[in-house]
Amino acid sequence: MEIKRATFKCSSQQLSQIPRDTLPDIAFIGRSNVGKSSLINLLTGHGSLAKVSGTPGKTRLINHFLIDDRWYLVDLPGYGYARVSKSERGEFSKLITDYVFRSEKMHFLFVLVDSRLEPQAIDLRFIRLLGEHGIPFGIVFTKTDKLSRNQLESSAARYKKQLLTEWEELPPLFFASSAKRTGREEILAFIDKCLKD
Ligand code: GTP
Ligand code: MG
Repeated sequence: MEIKRATFKCSSQQLSQIPRDTLPDIAFIGRSNVGKSSLINLLTGHGSLAKVSGTPGKTRLINHFLIDDRWYLVDLPGYGYARVSKSERGEFSKLITDYVFRSEKMHFLFVLVDSRLEPQAIDLRFIRLLGEHGIPFGIVFTKTDKLSRNQLESSAARYKKQLLTEWEELPPLFFASSAKRTGREEILAFIDKCLKD
């Protein structure tokens, strides 16, 4: 699948503001600064659709991008960023949990994790919640350009081992680098399949 047309639709501060039509949402989440916005720009082939920033916590709203008049790509706020006010934070903000666990629009959620890091407790807690709520999700290892092939393999192996301590099956796993522009085809092919199911 190739994305021909991607346009910004709206930013939502609460669940009631997301688009009311029946087009499916494919959403992206992860810790602040993991590379969500960069990945979205890579997938859409649009250099500046989602704002990329060196300052964590840039994306604070739910951003819907309309793709080829057929589905929405959704950029969710990052979690695990300490410098937001307490009322906004919780472990996962109300905005995130309302959307992820209550929105009927969301068809699939990509959880982004930094391929350089050991499995992070907050990601594992979030993934556990997804499992408990029966949310369909996959994991994208980001910034793979920062690792050698061997390092990436051992990082992925460590993650799989960790997940298999809790789950019988692994979720779909993807590897991406926005810097090297890799991982795009696999993720888009998977989304295409999701939209047809
Ligand atoms: P927030 O919206 O702030 O939560 O961040 P985000 O997850 O959207 O991350 P963003 O895409 O803004 O990227 C954060 C930083 O990581 C920026 O400095 C990017 O240039 C860098 N970055 C993102 N993806 C990659 C990648 O694949 N490789 C490398 N080397 N750097 C990346
Ligand atoms: Mg962002």
